[in-house]
Amino acid sequence: MSGLLSAAALDRAAIEELITSAETYRAGGGRRHPDAVVALMFFEESLRTRVGFEVAAARLGARGVAVYSVKHSPAMEVSETLDDAILSVGDWVDAICLRHGDAAVFSRLAGLVDTPVVNCGSGRDEHPTQALVDLLAIKRALGRIDGFSIGLVGDLAAMRVAHSLAVVLARFDAIRVRAMSPAGLGLPEDCLSALRDAGHEIVQLDHLDAGGLDVLYVAGLPADSDIGRLSREEQGRFQVSAEVVVGLGDGGVVLCPLPRVDEIAADVDDLPAARYFDQSREALWVRMAVLDRVLTQA
Ligand code: CP
Repeated sequence: MSGLLSAAALDRAAIEELITSAETYRAGGGRRHPDAVVALMFFEESLRTRVGFEVAAARLGARGVAVYSVKHSPAMEVSETLDDAILSVGDWVDAICLRHGDAAVFSRLAGLVDTPVVNCGSGRDEHPTQALVDLLAIKRALGRIDGFSIGLVGDLAAMRVAHSLAVVLARFDAIRVRAMSPAGLGLPEDCLSALRDAGHEIVQLDHLDAGGLDVLYVAGLPADSDIGRLSREEQGRFQVSAEVVVGLGDGGVVLCPLPRVDEIAADVDDLPAARYFDQSREALWVRMAVLDRVLTQA
């Protein structure tokens, strides 16, 4: 099955091709797919990824078909299985954009359908298209995707965006990573290994220190994660305020996949370093590039 299930499937050349393709779409060029139909199967909440892929499909001239529930009828209280739903609609469409809370679903799909599946968020595991969005934002802000420092802050154990970003960063050179999370909620070992194997410098901290960073990436503190057991005061130690942003290196920026609740204080939004809404806006071009890739390979 083609598609994009994991950031690990992307080597440096593939990532650079997708970023170049995104830039081509931003400039008004790029291939269109007027006959394509894309199923948007989101079984977890999403605003940016769900609407973003729907708009990306429309901008490519394709049609997006939304499937948010697989329950057969209101009278039938038990939902049909996801496998049955995908077997039913999979062959009608040219690609499936899927978000699901159970990461195991994604590997199981490989044996079910030939239709390419794009992982739009798999449990606490991965969010590969967000990592591409993040990389485009880094390139936009710094003018390079090698040789920079990045701080990842938040519940790095639970936040899938941090996992996929770590995997993608491991494809590039000379990156200094500062992983900042409450004790016990750090990056999983496989992400750390990927970064180490790439020769990147890694520092792990149990507090927030943005000093001198080129990029401060606010992965977030999800309410439903183990962060909930921390006091508000402890959680507050990881909040990015205007005072924290002042400590960034020259030209340093704050990125965030969004949504944010109070991980980034409102007083940061008006600072030149705050680039998360630009990052979100630019995500459209990445989603067009991802759909183009899977529709072309299908
Ligand atoms: N960044 C992101 O995945 O946002 P949504 O949950 O709104 O899709």
